[in-house]
Amino acid sequence: RHPGEPPLDKGLVPWLGHAVEFGRDAAKLFSNMKRKHGDIFTVQAAGKFITVLLDPHSYDAVLWESNSKIDFGQYARILMDRMFDVRLPDYDSNEEKAMLKMALQNKNLPSLTKAMFFNLRTVLIFDPQTATQDWKDVGLFHLSYSTMSRAGYLTLYGNENKNYSDMSGQAKDQAYSLEVYKEFFKLDRYLMKAARSTLSAEEKKMFDNTKKNLWKLLSVKRLDCRANRSLWLDTYKQHLEDLGTVEDMQTKAMLLQLWSTQGNAGPAVFWLLLFLLKYPSAMEAVQREMEGIFRTRKQTPGEMHELSQEMLNSTPIFDSVLNETLRLTAAPFITREVLQDMPLTMADGRKYHLRKGDRLCLFPYISPQMDPEIYEEPEKFKYNRFLNSDGTEKKDFYKGGKKLKYYTMPWGGGINVCIGQSFAISSIKQCVFLLLSYFDLELKDPNAKIPGFDKERYGFGMLQPEEDVVIRYRLKA
Ligand code: HEM
Repeated sequence: RHPGEPPLDKGLVPWLGHAVEFGRDAAKLFSNMKRKHGDIFTVQAAGKFITVLLDPHSYDAVLWESNSKIDFGQYARILMDRMFDVRLPDYDSNEEKAMLKMALQNKNLPSLTKAMFFNLRTVLIFDPQTATQDWKDVGLFHLSYSTMSRAGYLTLYGNENKNYSDMSGQAKDQAYSLEVYKEFFKLDRYLMKAARSTLSAEEKKMFDNTKKNLWKLLSVKRLDCRANRSLWLDTYKQHLEDLGTVEDMQTKAMLLQLWSTQGNAGPAVFWLLLFLLKYPSAMEAVQREMEGIFRTRKQTPGEMHELSQEMLNSTPIFDSVLNETLRLTAAPFITREVLQDMPLTMADGRKYHLRKGDRLCLFPYISPQMDPEIYEEPEKFKYNRFLNSDGTEKKDFYKGGKKLKYYTMPWGGGINVCIGQSFAISSIKQCVFLLLSYFDLELKDPNAKIPGFDKERYGFGMLQPEEDVVIRYRLKA
């Protein structure tokens, strides 16, 4: 290394370096490195040098740095190809993001929220498989992931029939969304290994078959015939056509987008519901807030025809529960390729050199999210951590005596921020409100432990549990 570069840890195995630990449990590896080297260091992994920055006060130096110096698109393109066989000529991630953002936010959000509400009802309340008045055992992860992915898929990719209340259309939506979800779930098991190119020959075969099944289900020809397609879908399709993408590649890109849009919200609902079931004071506070909202609008949950954006925006307790859930369970990497030798100045004035060709990685999960200097007992779920004593949202958190701009980053940040954040929040809220209003839910074993994380998933967004948690549920009388 050259003078002025961050401390380098090459591990014991030449070239491979820390690759194995990185894939197995990146949080553990980076925490160990932080103890050894401090809040900036470089690790070698499979021939690549990855500089990891863990000081949230210094994140702005990376998040807003120009694309000509550190680039997001290059690594994104590698993953798109490895995971989804997507190769787009002249692909510019910033241009695409700006275009799709409009379709998911601001004036387009209320219509998406409304469609999500109808689709959640279709898969949750009107599905005879789910909605029975007899107690039924189910894995909470399975229930949360399938409900959110099926309804999310119908909302973005369209319905069988324009009229949401048409019974035969609903039945087709239930069956088709379930088929898509089952294949999507299978695919999701292999994606981490695909991203790291560590699938065995047998796994690769299964992975390729699952992708083929999904390409059939999501073929652009099929999607063209669907009713209530979202503006997001039509904008994306048009964008692919403008890039001159052939039809097969358009279909592959549709699968990539299914994962970007449906991979995180279901796991978020799982952790949130699990924390509510394990912490009765949190459950009580959320239910009291929810009932209050209906009471002031003279509605009962049973008469719920719609949860307006205005209703969804007046839930500070739920918002704190969600922030706390995501603080504990969202662990994306923010990754950039260093395109030229360049200086990096930390917030406290330390200066480093970054080397062209290295990769730069922020991991907000370690700091700020799990940093004991910022959060007391960071490993514990405290539902009101993001509430001030007057009931407003708490935004003041400190490290080293200085107020933090980035105190939790489940949605990424800067150029890498999630464009679906508002839609995800309104969807998660609607799903939890519908489940709590229409169903009795309880843990099958009240002493069931909160499961550990599937550690291979550090870096890829929402974490998933090592194993599912069984609950009992039934439609309320
Ligand atoms: C709890 C739920 C969610 C979480 C925690 C989350 C988090 C994130 C994060 C961290 C990124 C940045 C990834 C990166 O740049 O490396 C991202 C990107 C993205 N998210 Fe979300 N997301 C969620 C739900 C959603 C939903 C529901 C949608 C769409 C309807 C969505 C659409 C997207 C898209 C399209 C991108 C890629 C943006 C780009 O081109 O850079 N997300 N999300």
